[in-house]
Amino acid sequence: MSSQQNIKIWDALVRSFHWFVVLAVLVAWLSADDYLEIHTFAGYAIFFLVGLRILWGIIGPTHARFHDFVKPPTQAGSYLFGLIQSKAPRFLGHNPAAGWMILLLLTVLLLVAISGVATLAVEEHTGPLVQALSGLSHAQREWIEEAHEFLANLLLGLIALHIAGVLLSSLVHRENLIMSMITGYKRQ
Ligand code: HEM
Repeated sequence: MSSQQNIKIWDALVRSFHWFVVLAVLVAWLSADDYLEIHTFAGYAIFFLVGLRILWGIIGPTHARFHDFVKPPTQAGSYLFGLIQSKAPRFLGHNPAAGWMILLLLTVLLLVAISGVATLAVEEHTGPLVQALSGLSHAQREWIEEAHEFLANLLLGLIALHIAGVLLSSLVHRENLIMSMITGYKRQ
């Protein structure tokens, strides 16, 4: 397999972003109940990583750019339809369905981080949003906490779908997409 994986597709920033974000989400999830400082640190790390990835999606190399992998939703639909029939075309960069999933993941990651900072402000009275959120009612504070929890659960659901999509695409195209996200290389 490795001799066939001969074109560099994922640059170092995309690969580092991916595996650091996986680590940060894992740490945030494991620390959510009992280790607030670690949980908060992981949340800021996610915010920073996603910010960097969005910037890289605009100024980075070809396959890192949103322009390269965000296609009309109809293309994502026909890719998925082809995938379940084992007939989907292969893409060197992200496929059109992965493109939409990536946009969703980045958006929800950002919303989880922002709602986390808001929760920190209303529950613990600390962090950068304390001043801005100081006048909220009890019901509004509760709403923020629930939104953070809802978004975190939504993220877990999207991650499960993302992993299922990666495994299915790897199977249908007979390539190891996980190894490509580690080494950066794909077969031509
Ligand atoms: C916290 C969990 C995860 C999150 C938030 C996440 C998020 C993402 C994001 C945002 C991308 C786009 C990468 C980019 O262009 O910058 C991506 C791609 C990818 N992820 Fe994940 N990921 C997670 C877990 C995993 C796991 C556990 C695996 C391996 C089983 C995996 C395998 C991949 C692969 C192979 C790609 C490239 C897909 C393609 O070839 O189009 N991810 N992921």
